[in-house]
Amino acid sequence: MSLKLKNRKVIITGASDGIGKALALAFAQEGAQVAVCARNQAPLDALSTEIEGDGHLFFSADLGKVEGVQAFYENAMQQLGRVDVLINNVGAILKLADFFSLTDQDWEDSFQINLMSAVRLTRLCIPSLKQSTGAGIINISSIAAASPQEVFPHYSAMKAGLSNFTVSLAKTLAADKIRVNAISPGPVWSKSWEDEVQGDASAKESAKKEIMQQTGQTIPLQRMGMPEDLTGLALLLASEQSSWITATNFTVDGGLTGNPF
Ligand SMILES: NC(=O)c1ccc[n+]([C@@H]2O[C@H](COP(=O)([O-])OP(=O)(O)OC[C@H]3O[C@@H](n4cnc5c(N)ncnc54)[C@H](OP(=O)(O)O)[C@@H]3O)[C@@H](O)[C@H]2O)c1
Repeated sequence: MSLKLKNRKVIITGASDGIGKALALAFAQEGAQVAVCARNQAPLDALSTEIEGDGHLFFSADLGKVEGVQAFYENAMQQLGRVDVLINNVGAILKLADFFSLTDQDWEDSFQINLMSAVRLTRLCIPSLKQSTGAGIINISSIAAASPQEVFPHYSAMKAGLSNFTVSLAKTLAADKIRVNAISPGPVWSKSWEDEVQGDASAKESAKKEIMQQTGQTIPLQRMGMPEDLTGLALLLASEQSSWITATNFTVDGGLTGNPF
């Protein structure tokens, strides 16, 4: 099966680490030209030495801010010339807390990064996506959207908003043949998990093993996800092989939520 992603222009947010980085590497490997962003430049520079191909953009911006989204969009368009695929990947729990420990500001911060970053960048990219044949938007949501727990209700609620927005946007853009889908990962080992682990390198390594083992036991496929577990589906959704797929949320969680509908 040929995905025909060579020379496709792909914007990926929050992509110096974790799922976004895995997506950037995978799309570049397929011959796509990518524009990626994160706040810190050093991991972006590291990615630039690892990635295949030429003409990519590694841009430093805070997508929780209007100006950050605008600056990333402008630089991406300057570098890529157009956008065929937009992947709204950036997102963060920000505060691992229950309802009673969350302030109005925590909810506001979550809203800005988990929902408004996607809304704003999508709005900016639509004119160019309309000019592309086979254009697509992929929003990286979370199983927390449909299966919220007591912890981080602010994050779950914003991801529910993102999943809901995905369907509404898909209907809005269907006439322009822009397909919009969401991918909802389950627990995927990444920087956000790593940041929760305290101690020196060896303490971190053993804590990582323990978390991965304990979390893995709760998952039918018996392991936590890795960022690369998300790339196959994203490549497929970005390709013409998915030309009749839109307004759909795909769960990728090793069977954890197991919802048949
Ligand atoms: N990992 C999981 O278990 C899991 C599960 C379900 C859903 N998800 C979703 O999957 C997506 C990726 O998660 P991940 O765990 O792979 O992330 P991650 O490893 O924590 O990486 C986050 C990336 O986004 C960048 N970033 C964070 N805040 C940013 C901001 N304000 N502006 C611009 N860039 C920013 C980070 O770089 P800087 O820090 O340098 O900015 C980094 O490159 C998120 O939407 C997350 O909610 C993850």
